[in-house]
Amino acid sequence: MPAQDQPSLIVRQSSPPNMEFPFASLSDWLVPTDLFFVRNHFPSPDLDAREWRLRIDGAVERPLELDLDAIKAMARTTVAAVLECAGNGRVYYEPAKEGLQWQNGAVGAAEWTGVLLRDILARAGLKSDAREVLLVGADSGAVDANKKTASPGKIAFARSLPLAKAIGDGVLLAYSMNGEPLTRDHGRPLRAVVGGWFGMAWVKWVTHVRVLEQPFLGYWQARDYFRWDRGAGEPMLVPLTEMEVKAQIARPVNGANLIAGQPYRVFGAAWSGEAPIKQVQICAGDGEGWREARLLDAEHPYAWRLWECLWTPRQVGNYRLRCRAIDGAGRVQPEQPRSDSESYAANWIVPVDVAVVPEPETYEAEFVI
Ligand code: MTE
Repeated sequence: MPAQDQPSLIVRQSSPPNMEFPFASLSDWLVPTDLFFVRNHFPSPDLDAREWRLRIDGAVERPLELDLDAIKAMARTTVAAVLECAGNGRVYYEPAKEGLQWQNGAVGAAEWTGVLLRDILARAGLKSDAREVLLVGADSGAVDANKKTASPGKIAFARSLPLAKAIGDGVLLAYSMNGEPLTRDHGRPLRAVVGGWFGMAWVKWVTHVRVLEQPFLGYWQARDYFRWDRGAGEPMLVPLTEMEVKAQIARPVNGANLIAGQPYRVFGAAWSGEAPIKQVQICAGDGEGWREARLLDAEHPYAWRLWECLWTPRQVGNYRLRCRAIDGAGRVQPEQPRSDSESYAANWIVPVDVAVVPEPETYEAEFVI
């Protein structure tokens, strides 16, 4: 149990558990597992690692079944990667959109250890017509009964990756998170890690890898977690994939009081999809335009960058702080929501409003966040 003054997960739904990382408490490059957000569509299955097996079949030469020991005996890879739910920031949509009302804590970075998916596929031997790799979780249920988006009864959580992504460096089947075995809520005993992609691709409790010759059009690919693409003229539905370029302010929080004349460390994290973060900028609304934030830590593919920017507000008053990220592919975090993202991929700039107050006579007179 966390002590009273310790940060703890914010419950967005109690059953199945859906919980948000209190983003204002961000302090380290890796988010501790007990504060890492949880996104479950169905109740978490409690799988017994000794009974559990991974089946690999479909368009492969040698269908096979592996137990956890066999997987752990394979070459291991550790990747620090940011996991962002595609619904992160949904609460900022106006008018409100249906779905869990995540603020900015359906995101976190962790260190994941496991085997490269391509090594598992290599053991089974891909057939020449292999096109996608479907990952199926052990959890299941019926979705949206009586709605237009109802599932055809009970379904599993399943998502596919195009082959080119599936065999890439950032895609693992992981059994460990932050150096410990996966917890039940995060997918014990094995989950997908799909560096650069939104969380719906990171299938938890994986029991089945099926290589497909055709595009997968299952519920979580074609009924949910898609966006509109206008590239071909008429808008067309495409499954969500890569994360969007985004920076979030952890501190100050909305409504904070800062002190005139005193430097304040504006602090947060920034990430993108496949491209690294190149710049984060801050605009304090004090007439000085965008200033550069300092990127902390080193660049790691698929991880986020923490950043900081010292701001000394000169004048007492109300200020609107904004931050924006720019990535190595030249993408700049937008000012406005996109109209093609349904209720997902909320990466536009969300301001933080603060008050700058006079320096207090005594420190007890002011509460500084
Ligand atoms: N995998 C299964 N089997 N079932 C799920 O409901 N949710 C997905 C993904 N993998 C989900 C799943 C979504 S939408 C997200 S954002 C991530 O898991 C969240 O991972 P976490 O709970 O470890 O943070």
